[in-house]
Amino acid sequence: MRTLIYNLRQRIKTKAKNKELFAKEFSAFKQKGVTSPEGYKALLDLYCATNGKFNEKMHKELIASNPPKKVSTALTGLTGKTELSEFDTINKTLNKEGYCPFGTKINAELISKIYNYALKANTLTAPLYAKKTVYDPNNLVSEIYRFEQNDLVNNTDIQQLIMDPVLINIARNYLGCEPIFDFPAMWWSTTFLKEASGEAAQLYHFDLDRIKWLKIFVYLNDVTLENGPHRLIKGSHLPGAKPQALLDRGYVRIPDEDLVNHYAAENFVVVTGKAGSVFAEDTKCWHKGTPLISGHRLVLEFEYTSSMFGVNYPKFEIENASEEFKEFCANNNTYASNFKLKN
Ligand SMILES: [Fe+2]
Repeated sequence: MRTLIYNLRQRIKTKAKNKELFAKEFSAFKQKGVTSPEGYKALLDLYCATNGKFNEKMHKELIASNPPKKVSTALTGLTGKTELSEFDTINKTLNKEGYCPFGTKINAELISKIYNYALKANTLTAPLYAKKTVYDPNNLVSEIYRFEQNDLVNNTDIQQLIMDPVLINIARNYLGCEPIFDFPAMWWSTTFLKEASGEAAQLYHFDLDRIKWLKIFVYLNDVTLENGPHRLIKGSHLPGAKPQALLDRGYVRIPDEDLVNHYAAENFVVVTGKAGSVFAEDTKCWHKGTPLISGHRLVLEFEYTSSMFGVNYPKFEIENASEEFKEFCANNNTYASNFKLKN
């Protein structure tokens, strides 16, 4: 009993200390635009100690000074036309479940252009991500081939998706503010390793680069049970929805067996889909990729956020911008604040 009370007191003390540290480092971030390692660690610790409640509280404070643009008509993007009522349904689903698949796909022409680009562009492979390699499906050297983010934002087809008004509005609604485009990611997953790879994020984990964010995923080839579908646990993004004992392990990857007893079987989602399928997810949900049995998987992912506090990434340098993208960035300062357009 005495140890229990002692531990509880220690917990309360640590939380208070971390809150103080976070407040100090967050105010330094507002001045400098850079997050200190101590500030980021305080965010991670507070997420775990409060089971996500701290992030929600901070996010609410943040968005008060960044109200969202009013959208009062249906919007048309690369997935087609989305009515206001559909935006509302998507947002309700995202809030409740942390995940929402789209009913429509991105047009096949754009998907095939990006897919063909991915067969020719440089990638970096695990474990060192040091040497540039073009993906060769007949000569695998890694379980994961990551594209360089700066290359992705210089691709005018990907720029089209970055500007997509439907995707932006989904992020706007979910975050309740004008979103910032945080980063793109794209990677091939392969059959190189036979077991689950930590590098390829094939063990359950939650992301925590930011205070609050939304990710949108696009499958660029058909994804079946064979070639590494994304998996997640619905509803596990909500404050208080993770087992505290697992959060007490810190920001680490968790074996399946530690999660299956805690969540109902129907909350474990496996996302298969044809090329062009899109889904949005708050990756505070436990999620992972599945080790591949055959074939390969090419995924494009965007992250949208309410604040850049968290992991420090360099701004993107864009030399190859379409005229439309240049104009878009000039008209959307907050959203495009991570892009440095050259010439
Ligand atoms: Fe992740």
